[in-house]
Amino acid sequence: MLKSGLVATNSRTLLRTKTFMTTSSATVTFLDQFKSKIQQCQARVGIIGLGYVGLPLALLYSEEKFQVTGFDIDSRKVDALSKGESYIYRITAEEIQAAKRHGFSATADYSRLTDMDAIIICVPTPLNEYHEPDLSFITNTTHSIAPHLRAGQLVVLESTTYPGTTEEVMIPILEKENRGGLKAARGEGSQSESGQEFFVAFSPEREDPGNTTVARKDIPKVVGGLNPEASELAASLYGAIFNRTVPVSSPAAAEMTKLLENIYRCVNIALVNELKLLCLRMGLDIWEVIEAASTKPFGFHPFYPGPGLGGHCIPVDPFYLSWKAKEWDFRTRFIELAGEINTSMPYHVLASVGSALNRHKKAVNGARVLVLGVAYKRDIDDLRESPALTIIELLQKDGAAVSYHDPYFPFIGRGRKYDLQMKCAELKDLGQYDCVVIVTDHSDYDYPSIVREAQLVVDTRNATRGIVSPKIVHC
Ligand SMILES: NC(=O)c1ccc[n+]([C@@H]2O[C@H](COP(=O)([O-])OP(=O)(O)OC[C@H]3O[C@@H](n4cnc5c(N)ncnc54)[C@H](O)[C@@H]3O)[C@@H](O)[C@H]2O)c1
Repeated sequence: MLKSGLVATNSRTLLRTKTFMTTSSATVTFLDQFKSKIQQCQARVGIIGLGYVGLPLALLYSEEKFQVTGFDIDSRKVDALSKGESYIYRITAEEIQAAKRHGFSATADYSRLTDMDAIIICVPTPLNEYHEPDLSFITNTTHSIAPHLRAGQLVVLESTTYPGTTEEVMIPILEKENRGGLKAARGEGSQSESGQEFFVAFSPEREDPGNTTVARKDIPKVVGGLNPEASELAASLYGAIFNRTVPVSSPAAAEMTKLLENIYRCVNIALVNELKLLCLRMGLDIWEVIEAASTKPFGFHPFYPGPGLGGHCIPVDPFYLSWKAKEWDFRTRFIELAGEINTSMPYHVLASVGSALNRHKKAVNGARVLVLGVAYKRDIDDLRESPALTIIELLQKDGAAVSYHDPYFPFIGRGRKYDLQMKCAELKDLGQYDCVVIVTDHSDYDYPSIVREAQLVVDTRNATRGIVSPKIVHC
């Protein structure tokens, strides 16, 4: 058995090499040319979607002296970039201006895609109101790319999505709607020089917003091409700006890799959130327990409880897989359970504020409450899916007069799921509030002063660690 299996493997390898050598010497030349263009930073890179993912990526390529063109349908973003301004807190106007000096430009004109060698798509992948994947941004973008596609181009999807999106959703649109009858290169030894093929890959974005300890170029880049040549080109393209690329066997494997990473976080956060509730009931400090467990040099990775999940990724992405799994008659029970626990956390915060006020013989109804920090996590300017928004709404519904403070948000207007129209309060006279709720533990806050001034502090993040005061209620 073993012996014949070995022979079969070897003969397959020989066959593969032969096919590649005899039928695709033209492709080898094309690949070499494309790769050498990348190595010499002469490949033109188009990035579609200039948000939290796309804009920093454009700047990384620009820093390496690539000619980068950014595409976005939001004219305010295109205008701001054209004027050399930034709309993302951690990106300075100077960085945009430096990129412009290296040839970076932003546009809404998709016809300029024809000039690109590589096209990278970084558009949103939210859930719709029924908690199902909303692929409309990907499909709209793909419809817009198709008429401008030309042979030999590399198209890479970076948006987080379920396994199969690249092959089942994106490629059929590109193949059907391009003007030259082009096909995505499949199998080995593609014929791109005959002018009939384009290359496709998926490569997930793995950024950790606000994390200053790992530089973006040190986060290995996973790439999964539709065929070996697409993988090679994508690895070469990302190898120009990332220190390590990790090839996987297909776009679907790369799509699934990203989901595994985010589901791992989502499930582990749910676990500590649930254990936090138990610890509170048992009079134990979950933070002390996590810190002690973290001293184990193997087999334990710490996750921390909080007021609920936030951001574009962790509360959203796992449900892309649950949805897809149903097609396979499969229920992803861990994801559903984690979702249930994490979604209940803002309600736990509301209950904690209620019982904390109760101790002061006060009710939520009519109480003045200051929510401290509304970004979905520390030190970032991103409000998407932030639990603070739900907490504010829940408190308001129960009759509290809610104010908020966050150094990153002078105003909270309208989002997909909220319409608050609130102005940031000044961070002073904290004694005027019946309760201060720490929802996001920005590092600029002076927590000892906050505790000193406030009447009551409900702390959802352990931001007041080390401060001993009867005013603090851990939640
Ligand atoms: N933000 C993160 O930290 C992060 C981390 C990992 C992965 N991701 C994933 O990356 C993807 C992008 O996320 P983001 O945070 O950058 O989103 P974002 O909302 O900040 O940016 C998306 C941009 O795409 C633009 N856009 C939408 N439709 C378009 C179209 N048809 N043509 C051109 N531009 C279009 C929007 O105007 C916006 O500027 C998502 O799938 C997300 O899940 C995000």
